[in-house]
Amino acid sequence: MEPVATRLGYDALLEGLKAGAEDTRLRLLVLLSEGELTVSDLTDILGQSQPRISRHLKLLAEAGLVERFREASWAFYRRATDGPGSTIARAVLALVDPADPVLARDRERLAEVRGARAAAAQAYFRKHAKEWDEIRKLHVAEAAVEAAIREALAGVRIDALLDLGTGTGRMLELYGPEVGRGVGIDLNPEMLAMARANLERAGLKSCTVRQGDIYNLALGRDAFDVVIVHQVLHFLDDGGRAIREAARMLRPGGRLLVVDFAPHDLEFLREQHAHRRLGFAAETVTQWMGAAGLDLVLHRTLAPEAGRKGALTVSLWLGRDPRMMLA
Ligand SMILES: C[S@@+](CC[C@H](N)C(=O)[O-])C[C@H]1O[C@@H](n2cnc3c(N)ncnc32)[C@H](O)[C@@H]1O
Repeated sequence: MEPVATRLGYDALLEGLKAGAEDTRLRLLVLLSEGELTVSDLTDILGQSQPRISRHLKLLAEAGLVERFREASWAFYRRATDGPGSTIARAVLALVDPADPVLARDRERLAEVRGARAAAAQAYFRKHAKEWDEIRKLHVAEAAVEAAIREALAGVRIDALLDLGTGTGRMLELYGPEVGRGVGIDLNPEMLAMARANLERAGLKSCTVRQGDIYNLALGRDAFDVVIVHQVLHFLDDGGRAIREAARMLRPGGRLLVVDFAPHDLEFLREQHAHRRLGFAAETVTQWMGAAGLDLVLHRTLAPEAGRKGALTVSLWLGRDPRMMLA
């Protein structure tokens, strides 16, 4: 069990315990320890009405056990990470038996809800695989982003490169000519077919792509000098988990480069382009990298060109595996 480092005032302890001491609220707390979820996700998982779920979430948030954050017109909840309430949440969660049948059923429902959303995103990529290389350019100045990627990785020796959510294989095309081995992983067969065609056209024999899930990579750990996650996180439910899995692939001293949008409010990207998250604050990805055991060595934002309609700010985060490299 995790030790509880902090002692709390009597009133804070009582308030926090009261907030958690109710059937639905305890289940909500456990679910929110699995990731960031909306009221509508939680309504689907628990099969309870939206007003009821909202009321319980409000009580948990007031007691500081969970946090609420807004992203354009959506609100997300997650387990609190700061303050007295977070200490109580951590202590309560450490006592929970994950095999409990009610909680196990909630986890299954969570997996189903996430599965349905991932399937919707995959349907989007199936439909748009052929145009993806054009779609990618709609909101970003591709050349500027790729120059920033090169700058971030300048001086890093890349023998083995892993590109997660490789899509049509753009990152492999960019680095393929200079790496010993490039591997691209993606869930979507249509995107992978485009990637294979692109790599073949470019004559990149050192690069291969294969189907796989970023959350559960069937690759040996500690095998890559650089892992890239380029414009993938905003499609995912659980960016933190993806980053943990990506970090596991790094050799000692290896680098994880994440490129994604900074926070924005283009809500239509959720409905029309399967985005789950409208960009990420600098500290969100920084925190995920820290939780995955990486040191952040660079964060940089690239503002869109002036006057370009619909263009978005892009952020780069570079993390480094702190283990020593062997000579
Ligand atoms: C926006 S595309 C980006 C592709 C490429 N990195 C680029 O920048 O052009 C996102 C890709 O992530 C893939 N993807 C989404 N969820 C995934 C998952 N769980 N595991 C692996 N790939 C995933 C999608 O199939 C899609 O090809």
